Amino acid sequence: MRKMIVAGNWKMNTTLPEGEKLVKELVDLLSDYKGEKGIIIAPPFTHLNAVNNLITNTSIHLAAQNCASEESGAYTGEVSAAMIAATGAKYVILGHSERREYFNESGETLLRKTQLTLQNQLNPIFCIGEQLTQRESEQHEATVKKQLEETVFKLPKSDFEKLILAYEPVWAIGTGKVASPEQAQEMHAFIRQLIVEKYDEKTAENMSILYGGSCKPNNATELFSQQDVDGGLIGGASLKAEDFRAIINS
Ligand code: PGA
Repeated sequence: MRKMIVAGNWKMNTTLPEGEKLVKELVDLLSDYKGEKGIIIAPPFTHLNAVNNLITNTSIHLAAQNCASEESGAYTGEVSAAMIAATGAKYVILGHSERREYFNESGETLLRKTQLTLQNQLNPIFCIGEQLTQRESEQHEATVKKQLEETVFKLPKSDFEKLILAYEPVWAIGTGKVASPEQAQEMHAFIRQLIVEKYDEKTAENMSILYGGSCKPNNATELFSQQDVDGGLIGGASLKAEDFRAIINS
């Protein structure tokens, strides 16, 4: 059976002391966690090492929010997959719409980042999702299909099955506008069917596909109860320990 996962994407929020405080609160709140969901947090790069020390022997796992598209060398300001792996992180968020949009990340770049992540024994949390205009013009399925085809569908099955996918409609990210459970289910089922066609039934059945976009304590239960929604990628609500716990317990 595929795993239910709740991952928190902190984005460019919290200083190191603030981040450490948030992690300590979370560790406290989740100290008696007996649920089956995998729990992941993705703080900024500068926090990874310290956060890793705080979550040792807890049920929380660590992710980075990005990695470089090159292995090493003269790329001022970049952080490589090997550097991330050495902090103790196990996951890397890739393909987030904010990075696609503000940092012009192309399919080619994202495929390269995915491959480097995998080569360093890190699991990508790979995001896909349409813009509002694409949904309004009924292009949402075609958009998501293209995003998969030009990136992770180029991977061999043995690599693809190490991924976690996140469907994040761009119009729902940070807007308070959430996809309806039906809209989420419809798209997740569509993505799973594409995986059946590209790889096989078993790969599709085992793939965790998270929903992201204004997922909060008051809508998580309904979203997560959809057959093909395997948890969430949480932005804003992951910055409040109580809210993040409530979503995990949804
Ligand atoms: P949000 O962000 O929950 O604040 O909408 C989700 C995301 O960008 O991963």
